[in-house]
Amino acid sequence: MSSERLSHLLRGVLVLLPAAVIVAGTRNKLWEVPTGRFTSSSNHTWSPQGEHCQYHHLQEKVKITADIPPKLDGTWVSTRCEVRPGPEFLTRSYTFHSNRHFQALQHYYTESSCEDPAYSLIIRGKIRLLQASWITLGATEADHHLSRVGIVLHSVAAKQRLASRLPSACVSLSINEMVLGKPYELYNTRAGRACLAAMGFSVAEMGLVRVEKQHHSHGGEVQELFLGDIHTDWAQRTQHRPTGYQQPLQNAMHHIHPCPVCALVYRSSEQRPPVLPRTPAVPLSLAGHWVSQRCETRPNVLFLTRDFTFNPKQHAWEGIYRHYLDSTCSQPTFTLRAMGHYAQGNPHSKLSRASEFVFKVTQVKVTAMDESTAKLLNSTRPGKCGRARDWRVGVEQDLTLTNGCPMLGIKLPHKEYELFKMELDHKKHPLLFTGERPTDGSSPDRPLRRPTSFQPPMVLCNGGETHPYFSTLKSKQVQLANGTVNLETLALLVFGSALCSWLSVY
Ligand SMILES: *[C@@H]1O[C@H](CO)[C@@H](O)[C@H](O)[C@H]1NC(C)=O
Ligand SMILES: *[C@@H]1O[C@H](CO)[C@@H](O)[C@H](O)[C@H]1NC(C)=O
Ligand SMILES: *[C@@H]1O[C@H](CO)[C@@H](O)[C@H](O)[C@H]1NC(C)=O
Repeated sequence: MSSERLSHLLRGVLVLLPAAVIVAGTRNKLWEVPTGRFTSSSNHTWSPQGEHCQYHHLQEKVKITADIPPKLDGTWVSTRCEVRPGPEFLTRSYTFHSNRHFQALQHYYTESSCEDPAYSLIIRGKIRLLQASWITLGATEADHHLSRVGIVLHSVAAKQRLASRLPSACVSLSINEMVLGKPYELYNTRAGRACLAAMGFSVAEMGLVRVEKQHHSHGGEVQELFLGDIHTDWAQRTQHRPTGYQQPLQNAMHHIHPCPVCALVYRSSEQRPPVLPRTPAVPLSLAGHWVSQRCETRPNVLFLTRDFTFNPKQHAWEGIYRHYLDSTCSQPTFTLRAMGHYAQGNPHSKLSRASEFVFKVTQVKVTAMDESTAKLLNSTRPGKCGRARDWRVGVEQDLTLTNGCPMLGIKLPHKEYELFKMELDHKKHPLLFTGERPTDGSSPDRPLRRPTSFQPPMVLCNGGETHPYFSTLKSKQVQLANGTVNLETLALLVFGSALCSWLSVY
């Protein structure tokens, strides 16, 4: 790596933590051709948080394979009402043919439960797989060519909203003359580019693809299609080159059972958009210990798992972020433990079942998990990042005394504006969604920057039997009996009156 690049990276490190991972982690890999040939396959076994979450419903070992290049053939569908930054609400049904042609059906809704369809887009084009991504390890890069985009309006309100955004004529259509339920052409290879731009339309998500196959021990197989992430800033959206993923679509033939939404989305067409059934509201109760369902890939070369504990009575939380070099989370680089307080605010104005939060951090501890991260942290100046020259692999350091660590982008105090919601999974276990981090690596440190979309959900370790949705009584035991609040957090609650906070970079 040239020194110019190194200094560029180090400058990045001062601002954001994800970049720290680039330096500490993939330093030797980022600019090299991937070691494997284009055709490769990764095999690994993943039991969600096996070592951190020993509860029966998570104990099934799932073997995950991911081929490069992936096999896209088939139809892939949403498993729930999806929320994109904005917020935008949609369901998707994408079909890829073996001759590389695809047809992507997107249904947009006016509200966050996908009960009230606004319009549907039918997108036709061709996709070409290029090479294994050098940046997002485990993904394949692709380019695409659009041949046609059609639109069907489902409501008068949607028509008015689109008419105010779109140019007066797109291809040959005039929005005002459109009839609800009838398909119109919005774009073809000769015309309509301005219309797509005015809608903020982009299928840049097709630029990054990964297919994971989960082989369950009882014999079932689930296939998931990960496509590139959507930029959280609307203005950046059409130019964005994804390095992370959206929530995956599942293969219509190999999905998790039961999935009533999958069936509805699969049977839909642009003229018959799926109307999702109303699901019971799940009270937002954070009590307990929540973990990632899988190794999570984030924009800008970040592979991690999260592990959160909340104590609502004390308004205390602890988050453990385990960082890795690779997309299977097998090579740890560092672990970060953050603790602090939180306060729940109002329900979100557009996401009826989501709630606003404010998070404060009182303490941050970091453990270097490999030699190169330890060396990097060891090179910081005294008083800047924990005890200087005392970084060792596997030994935790408290960053509170140095008010954070500029090299890791951690500055105390700090406050963050958050968005949380809860849903139930197919087994009626609660899922916790926390706000999506801004794609540019900045922090939601102002109310205006509060997220409008979500990260992949976390699952409750004790299976949800104790969640208030099922039992109000038992949830108290989780908080108190099972040691979910550790002593350090308690000590902080007692002594930590001056609330310093930290910028959680996730
Ligand atoms: C992955 O596992 C499958 C099934 O066990 C096996 O057939 C395949 O050869 C493995 N692939 C690699 C690259 O190890
Ligand atoms: C950090 O620096 C100290 C003192 O120079 C040294 O003893 C130690 O081995 C270093 N640790 C690493 C991981 O390089
Ligand atoms: C949780 O608490 C129950 C009841 O006190 C106890 O039997 C169980 O071992 C605890 N589990 C853990 C992981 O501490």
